This record gives sequence, C-alpha cells and structure tokens, in this order.
Amino acid sequence: MHTVHTLAELRAELRRRSDWALVPTMGNLHAGHLALVARARELKAPVVASIFVNRLQFGPNEDFDRYPRTLPRDAQLLQEAGCDLLFAPDEAEMYPQPQVFRIQPDPALAGILEGAVRPGHFEGVATVVMKLFQMVQPRWAVFGKKDYQQLLLIRRMVAQFALPLDIVGLDTVRDADGLALSSRNGYLSAAQRAEAPALQRALLGLANDARHAATPAQLLALETRAARDLAARGWAPDYLTLRRRGDLLPPGEQELRQGVDLVALGAARLGPTRLIDNLEC
Ligand code: PAF
Repeated sequence: MHTVHTLAELRAELRRRSDWALVPTMGNLHAGHLALVARARELKAPVVASIFVNRLQFGPNEDFDRYPRTLPRDAQLLQEAGCDLLFAPDEAEMYPQPQVFRIQPDPALAGILEGAVRPGHFEGVATVVMKLFQMVQPRWAVFGKKDYQQLLLIRRMVAQFALPLDIVGLDTVRDADGLALSSRNGYLSAAQRAEAPALQRALLGLANDARHAATPAQLLALETRAARDLAARGWAPDYLTLRRRGDLLPPGEQELRQGVDLVALGAARLGPTRLIDNLEC
C-alpha cells in the first residue's frame, strides 16, 4: 500500500489504475472501518482510503482537538486489510485557503436529529465529502450505516449533483455485547464501556414497542419513555426516535398502520462522550 499526503501525489497514484473504490474516514480505525475496506474490495476495485479529521464538521465545543490521531497504526491496519492506497492530507493540503465555498444540504434533512444537535455538522460533512469525491473521482464510495443520517444525506447529494459514482452502505459492526463500534468508544471509562450497550438495547426496546403504536402520539409517548429510562441510567439523551427510513421524518398514522419501513435512531451522552446508534426495523 502506498501512502500519500498531497493531492499531486494522490492524482499520480490514481492514474495507475481506474475505477477506484473510496473509503473516507477520520482515522483511528477499528473493525467497522476495516469492514468498509473489505466491502470495497468485494467490488473488485482498487481501494483508496482517506484519513482526514475534518475541522469543518466539528462544532466549537466538540472533540476536534482530542479526536484520536493514530496514523501509523491506521496505515498498518489498512495495509493488512488489503487497501491499495492511503490518502492522508494535512489541513493545509485539504483546505489551502479557507473553504468559503460550501455544500449547503437541505435543512429538511440536515437540520433534524444530528443536525439539530450539531448545527453546521452536515454542511461540514457534505463539503469535505464532495471535496474528496472531486480529488479522488472514485467509481464507488463506501460508508457505514452507523452514521445513518450522513449516509442518506450523501446519497442525496450524489443524486442531486449527478455525481458519477455509486454509494455503497454497509451495516454497522458491533462488539459482542451489541455496542456499535466507534472511534469515540475509546473515550469511555471501564464502567461507561460496560453501560454503553444500553443505547442499542433502548433502540431495540423502542423498535419492539413501536409495533403496537397505532398513532404518532402513541409513538411519541414510547420515545419519551425510552429517553426517560435511559436518563434514569445516567445518560443524557439527545433523541431516541423512530423515523421513516427514506427521509427520517416521523411516520404518520396511516404509515404506522401500513407498516412503513422505519429506523430507530438514538444519540445520548454518557459522561462527556456522545454516542449514536440506529437500527432498521
Ligand atoms: O464518517 C466519517 O468518518 C466522516 O464524517 C467522513 C465521512 C469521513 C467525513 O469527514
């Protein structure tokens, strides 16, 4: 595997082969990221991974500065996973001038759930992902479903700008106790790590109970109870909710009756660490 840090080097390496599959990451890789690389390899494409901790998608009081940067270990893991090329630009390479041209995603999607709690987050995500797509010009890009809203937003961006690539979504990889793998799990103390799977259990419970919800009001009552139960365990929930998979809006009464495809989404703080998860149901 080659590692490159500049756009010029990246372009030179990309020219050697065609139809690349891109796995965009912020590094501090875990088995979830390596599953994305494995999925990219199934496409029989040469695989390029990117590692860039994107300041634009972090709010002023978020963990940009302490986000773990573990490039040598990440490069080793990618090499072992069969990745062909690693693009690891620094900030000056990615944003040589202040990035004043930005992607403004539809607030109907980017302003709810994660976007409501983290204003500007999806503008930062969409901008860096669009920039990576321009830099790499991949034939495919592979993203995890753990960031469900991000994946939906990127799919829409690709469709609306008629970008010539396919987006591949991959199921969330979990530890044996159900905790979704995340770089932020590394912030958890031993006691918090033991508690952390409660978020997935809360989503499972909500998805299960929601089978009996006939109206949006009943659904809201279940969501409120799920958040209250999690709070009673010491969490600070931002949201626990069941939404339509296609646009992440709440289902109406008729849709509940017809059994529309839903996804349970949750975000909550455990101590200083904010975890997110979701389950299609
Ligand atoms: O999902 C992530 O790791 C990031 O949001 C991404 C897509 C690499 C953009 O910085």
